[in-house]
Amino acid sequence: MGPCVNINGRMSRPEDAQISVFDRGFLYGDSVYETMRVYAGRPFKFAAHCTRLYDSGSKIGFTLPWSESILEERLVETLRESRMPDCALRVIATRGTGPLGLDPALAVHPTLLIYVLELPQFPARLYEQGCVLHLTQIKRNIKQAIDPQAKTGNYINNLLALSEAKTHGADDAIMLDVDGRVAEVSTANIFVHVDGIWQTPPLDVGILGGITRQTIIELLRANKIEIRENILWPEDLHRAEEIFLCSSLREIVPVGKLSDRVFNQQEKCKTVMALYRECVERVAKEPW
Ligand SMILES: Cc1ncc(COP(=O)(O)O)c(C=O)c1O
Repeated sequence: MGPCVNINGRMSRPEDAQISVFDRGFLYGDSVYETMRVYAGRPFKFAAHCTRLYDSGSKIGFTLPWSESILEERLVETLRESRMPDCALRVIATRGTGPLGLDPALAVHPTLLIYVLELPQFPARLYEQGCVLHLTQIKRNIKQAIDPQAKTGNYINNLLALSEAKTHGADDAIMLDVDGRVAEVSTANIFVHVDGIWQTPPLDVGILGGITRQTIIELLRANKIEIRENILWPEDLHRAEEIFLCSSLREIVPVGKLSDRVFNQQEKCKTVMALYRECVERVAKEPW
């Protein structure tokens, strides 16, 4: 079938998939979601994505009514239908439909959507020469407003950050928190090699706990490469030896340029990329 969307158990082609205009995911971004990369028919780190989906729900007071086994069943069904062994998988759970109004108690029919789509074509230059990043003035959400560890359907500030980066000719944006500390990229986490050590902002700065970030931390530790979760400032980015960003779909992308700072060296980053590739290939052979 190729790309397809499963809505509450019903399969359609993406162009035929429809949800209600009263769905709160559409009206208010009242939803949580996960994006996974599928290798050889297996979603990478499925269990971790599942846990984060339920955790995101609980952070916005939305108890997902589907058990993990139903979720898995629907994923398997949708993947089987698509016959796409290497693809992008998105799961969205919305609080659903109900009469118009902000009160979550009005929601009566939650919606579970599973998208199986072609992997985006990331230009080879990103991996070979590195991406261009822009340090944006748009701040990451504060935890007291909406916890950035909840992956919700509300991405407007990250969207603005990315748009600003594009107007500056960059591929993506680095966002700071309200105190000016380095947070993350619009849809990726960041690792900085500074003072001879890989460092990444700690979760309590107010960032998404990326599954790729966690996988990389574990890989570095397992390979006795030092990694610290440390507060980082913009100055640390400018004096860094190397930087990379990471996410499920993009995996690891070295940074080639940030403002007027050019990063010619990407040796250390290439080592992490190789470790990640090895891990992906090993896990793709295991059952999930
Ligand atoms: C804000 C943000 N940070 C980080 C990430 C990377 O997370 P993961 O590695 O789980 O894909 C994402 C992914 O979409 C994101 O939206």
